[in-house]
Amino acid sequence: MNILIIGTGYVGITMILAFAEMGNRVTGYDTDREKVNRLNMGLLPIHEPELKETLSKHLQHNRIVFSADAEKSIQHNDVIFICVGTPARADGGANLRYIKLAAEQIGRYINGYKLVVIKSTAPVGTQQKMVRWISLAQIHYNNVLHPFDVSSNPEFLREGNALADALNPDRVIIGSTSKRATDILKTIYNKAACPVFITRPKEAELIKYASNAFLATKISFINELSRLCDKMGVDVREVASGMGMDKRIGSLFLKAGIGYGGSCFPKDVSALLWEASNQQISLSILEKVAEINRSQPIYLMARLKERLGGFSNRIIAVLGVSFKPDTDDIRESPAIGIIQKLLAEKAVVRVHDPVARVPAQLFDYGVEECVSPRLAAKDADAIVICTDWPQYSKLNWPQMKKIMKFPCILDGRNMLSAKTMRRIGFDYMGVGSR
Ligand code: UGA
Repeated sequence: MNILIIGTGYVGITMILAFAEMGNRVTGYDTDREKVNRLNMGLLPIHEPELKETLSKHLQHNRIVFSADAEKSIQHNDVIFICVGTPARADGGANLRYIKLAAEQIGRYINGYKLVVIKSTAPVGTQQKMVRWISLAQIHYNNVLHPFDVSSNPEFLREGNALADALNPDRVIIGSTSKRATDILKTIYNKAACPVFITRPKEAELIKYASNAFLATKISFINELSRLCDKMGVDVREVASGMGMDKRIGSLFLKAGIGYGGSCFPKDVSALLWEASNQQISLSILEKVAEINRSQPIYLMARLKERLGGFSNRIIAVLGVSFKPDTDDIRESPAIGIIQKLLAEKAVVRVHDPVARVPAQLFDYGVEECVSPRLAAKDADAIVICTDWPQYSKLNWPQMKKIMKFPCILDGRNMLSAKTMRRIGFDYMGVGSR
């Protein structure tokens, strides 16, 4: 099948590769010509396992092409996936500007039946809006009106695991009332060995928000519980392991830490809260989820400050800037808030991350970026682990301790063994761990 993907961000690039892996010929459209040229040369704008090798394989076999030509891209493909961003507006709602732009282009260049599939995370009612926007553009630009369907097909891939998740999903959600559209989507996904759940577009749209909001709720639940564990000398990791053995609860997304970040959970929780207040409904659990997530790094920094007797002139080594491992994405990363807090309290902040970069504006406040954890930790008063990059667990910790001024460590991801670290001589602080 010939498939067009509009938008070459995380989801767009991953889906281009996943659909090519499933045997389709895929065009990736983006308005950014420079990005398109680079992608055609096999150069990716993101750090993500497996993508580079898969892209060069499909470019070589002409199964993938990138284009900045909207007219040709739309006219040569009958199935169009919308993978553009839906960033948060200042009021927390989702900004549908890019979705609307894509709809207008489809309506303008449509030359026969098109199946338009919304993969971007978009609020309930977006599918209906898309139908209206495409129709209005068709009426404006064309004499002949062509048939089209718009379906919702949310994506559940995780950064750092994107291609594997896209190729082996737990489920495929299709929000559609058209048999023609549903049949095409079922054919596209017939290689994904998972249940296909067909529902109306509105339900599909809410399934995406509700899933992310529920996962965020699990994280905030365990993070808040970790504060009680700290007080009572209980290890939250043990508690989570025991809880997770109950199939009704499940062990995933119960890792206590510095809070969730990324381009999805914070934005989607806000968008759902915005929608609820718009409907005069209170989603009080979700309000708390967001509040706990905001206060978790503050709570942990207060513990560290108490331990060090203040941050002023203390050298703090921050390990990890990305919002999770295996990505260079720093959007809404709790590490950034932690670095800002330390700088505001006049600490000397040294940062290491294997791939992510510190935002440029933080250099004006004196952040030092280090090429190794060792350089960051030299003469430091404390280490704060913000991202659970696997290489941090393999560091030579006895040596790290030797080069530090004071061997204090706040393991914000509970990735190290408290027992081992204390045996080495660290003043170890975990998140709700003994
Ligand atoms: C999330 C969802 O997991 C995907 O299913 C969804 O498709 C995606 O959002 C999206 O909407 O596009 P992602 O944001 O890439 O994926 O990353 P996650 O693995 O979900 O992690 C999000 C944050 O939660 C990270 O900061 C991570 O460190 C944190 N987290 C995760 C915890 O603090 N504890 C956990 O137990 C799990």
